Amino acid sequence: MEDLKQTFLDEIKSVEGLVDLSNLKIKYLGKKGIITAQLKKLSSIPPADRALFGKKINDIKQFMETEIDVLESRLKGEELKRQLLSDSIDVTLSGKFVSFGREHPINKTLSEITDIFVRMGFSVEEGPEIELDYYNFEALNIPKDHPARDMQDTFYVSPDIVLRTHTSPVQVRVMEKRKPPVRFIAPGKVYRCDADVTHTPMFHQIEGLMVDKGINFSNLKGVLVTFLHHMFGPDTPVRFRPSFFPFTEPSAEIDIGCIICNSSGCRVCKNSGWLEILGAGMVNPRVFEHVGYDPEEYSGFAFGMGIERIAMLKYSIDDIRLFYENDIRFLRQF
Ligand code: PHE
Repeated sequence: MEDLKQTFLDEIKSVEGLVDLSNLKIKYLGKKGIITAQLKKLSSIPPADRALFGKKINDIKQFMETEIDVLESRLKGEELKRQLLSDSIDVTLSGKFVSFGREHPINKTLSEITDIFVRMGFSVEEGPEIELDYYNFEALNIPKDHPARDMQDTFYVSPDIVLRTHTSPVQVRVMEKRKPPVRFIAPGKVYRCDADVTHTPMFHQIEGLMVDKGINFSNLKGVLVTFLHHMFGPDTPVRFRPSFFPFTEPSAEIDIGCIICNSSGCRVCKNSGWLEILGAGMVNPRVFEHVGYDPEEYSGFAFGMGIERIAMLKYSIDDIRLFYENDIRFLRQF
């Protein structure tokens, strides 16, 4: 018994970790362990010696159990300490670099434009990019044989469905739903089959519409000049030129004095000193008829502009494709 105890003590001294200890425990106290085997021998011991043998073997068993328990909690404590040490955070190390995005210049320009109109009481509306031919053309008084419907300009999804070529269909959709007065802008993506340094197949427009009793061309002028002066500065020259759109009558194109060369003539303004910025006009009574407004009672004006063009002028960007490459070095500049 004493030998057994001594061997056990020698062995437990050389235990290096919890796995060793568990093996030692199995070796001595497990089902097929040394102590268990001794206990099984009990019945074969002469009755006279049995009590003493039994006591000794139980004492040694208890001794071993205690030794193992003590060592086990010590080893577990050490293990925990090691883990905590290796998991600790060195707050003096330099951090990982997180690169931030930037608001895209198109969205930035759009927010600026939107802010100005919202301050003048306009709400913001949206319409679908995949649009019925009816809303994109027919209801805007663009007949079937109009050049704007040319297969080269318009992406057709089916004979009746197109990718909208402008934001003007939103005029019709909103007027169909609502009685006058209406006063809103409608920004969004539009699509045309066109591509060079100033054209991409997808670009952004912002539409505007104001309809009520007694709206006239002076109101159109007042709203748009106010907008342009907020957008490009209070001294920016503005001029209205007669033009044509099927859904407005009369129609105008609106130019501002070239902000690149200060109206002295450059490549961007093609030496004219003027930049075309907006299309606009008084809503054609035929459009009102499509949405059930009485043209005798109501009048209104509409306008539309390209956001890329305004952003390009404002930030002196000479290639429209830069907007869509998502090169962070370009985007960071705005
Ligand atoms: N939809 C026209 C275009 O894309 C712009 C426009 C809008 C003109 C509203 C007049 C009134 O060119």
